[in-house]
Amino acid sequence: MKNAVVLFGSPRKKGNTAELARPVIATLKGKGWGVRTLYLNDMNIRPCQGCYTCLPAGVCRIQDDMKDVRKYIMESDLIVYATPIYWFGPSGQLKLAMDRSIAFMDGNFASRVKGKKAITLTTFGDDNMDSCRPAIDMFTKTFDLLGVTYAGQVNAPGCLPQGGVGREFVEKAKELAESVA
Ligand SMILES: Cc1cc2nc3c(=O)[nH]c(=O)nc-3n(C[C@H](O)[C@H](O)[C@H](O)COP(=O)(O)O)c2cc1C
Repeated sequence: MKNAVVLFGSPRKKGNTAELARPVIATLKGKGWGVRTLYLNDMNIRPCQGCYTCLPAGVCRIQDDMKDVRKYIMESDLIVYATPIYWFGPSGQLKLAMDRSIAFMDGNFASRVKGKKAITLTTFGDDNMDSCRPAIDMFTKTFDLLGVTYAGQVNAPGCLPQGGVGREFVEKAKELAESVA
């Protein structure tokens, strides 16, 4: 069985990002995948301390819930990064987990997660794509460094707090999941 982990970066479990993630999760499960959603906002993930202690063995010296994030990422074929855009980047909840992903590199900066796939889902209030571009650049460079294949993205503009996600983007999310499943 193939596994996916959803790094869910929104604090709102019934908000726009959840609406965009739902068809991805349902489609993957429908194809027999095991899918685990990690609500990062509910987890205790401390900021990276920049000590590089993790590099030799891949074990961070901070004892917190990042060990679970790490475990599920290691067990997964696909990592789904789902986040609202906060100030042109991913949410702080997701950024904390991304910073701690330095533990996925070894002492020679070779990746321990090489070969996995990732997709990204973003929602944001702006009507055009400008707001999500810095986040997409960050994802692209991060996956490149980690040797993770960037298998696709859905970016949903016009997502106001009470507004919901446009139908076409929900459909695109489903199609993206079908393409990677
Ligand atoms: C702190 C904060 C920062 C935001 N920054 C942006 C932004 O830079 N660009 C934008 O278009 N929308 C921005 N938004 C709007 C959210 O990205 C948007 O409403 C998103 O769909 C919320 O997702 P959620 O329903 O999962 O919480 C911001 C919202 C908040 C709360």
